[in-house]
Amino acid sequence: MEDEIKSIVQEAKAAIAQSDAVSLSVTAAKFIGRKARLTQILRSIKEFSAPERQKAGSLANRARGEIEAALLQRKQELATSAQRSTMKRDTTLPGITPEIGHLSPVTIVTNQLIGALTELGFEIAHGPEAELEAYNFDYLNIMPNHPARDEWDTFWLRQGKDNKTSVLLRTHTSPVQIRYMLAHKPPLRIIAPGRTFRYEAEDATHASVFSQMEGLMVDKGISVAHLKAVIVHFVDRVLGEGNQVRFRPSFFPFTEPSFEVDVRFRDKWLELMGCGMVHPQVLRNVGIDPEEYSGFAFGVGIERLALLKYGINDVRLFLGGDMRFVKQF
Ligand code: DAH
Repeated sequence: MEDEIKSIVQEAKAAIAQSDAVSLSVTAAKFIGRKARLTQILRSIKEFSAPERQKAGSLANRARGEIEAALLQRKQELATSAQRSTMKRDTTLPGITPEIGHLSPVTIVTNQLIGALTELGFEIAHGPEAELEAYNFDYLNIMPNHPARDEWDTFWLRQGKDNKTSVLLRTHTSPVQIRYMLAHKPPLRIIAPGRTFRYEAEDATHASVFSQMEGLMVDKGISVAHLKAVIVHFVDRVLGEGNQVRFRPSFFPFTEPSFEVDVRFRDKWLELMGCGMVHPQVLRNVGIDPEEYSGFAFGVGIERLALLKYGINDVRLFLGGDMRFVKQF
């Protein structure tokens, strides 16, 4: 019987080593289950004679203990290897490169403009997109019944009791000039890039949401020569040197004289910005003496500049979010 128990243990250990997670319980039943040979032996021990009983008893019990230990060990082995296979990762492999975004062409051009002007000593100023009627129009010499108001098709946000309570989406960045001049004394040199809004029928060269950069310089003895030098400097910076630039007389209520600046592009003149010498009335409106100071201002359309720079044919693409367009920059 001693030999039999020994061989049961051997057989059991071999079977356990070959079992997988599913067959392990079958193996367990076979060797230590109710009908297992070892169980039968254990049950029959009480019929043995006293001296044999003790020996056989401890032998069989030890065998059972060994088999149970082997089963437990195998069970743990199987569990760990199952866990490993669900986490089959090689952390030393290089990762999948994530898709990285990039700046939009409008931001690229804005940054170039900022670079070209801050190196001339211009500081960046900001104003709100939801603007007071007074700053968007009245202080800029665009009075309520002036026909020029029609030039700026306006999204009204709130009709208040007067021009300091009526709120609109700014139709240009020019109100930043007013806010800045009300808060600072000359000499002044600022640029104000930002979003602007017009209630417009959209087409390839007009969008309702677009970007401008305002420029303003006020000091003693500022002339059109300064204006021209600054504009040519930043147009060259963004579009590269050698473009034909044209200044043509124009009208804006807040400048006198006023000009429009065009750039020659694919055998056509493309309008880029309005500019001029700050109107004496505008200076008076913000408490600057036009006898002492003069200044120039400009407002450049940033998408227009990006169209030229990249040869894009439709401003609506800038905000369209079409990846085929966006990925080309
Ligand atoms: N604010 C004008 C517009 O959006 C552009 C402009 C013209 C700005 C002349 C200026 C300026 O500062 O002097 O149509």
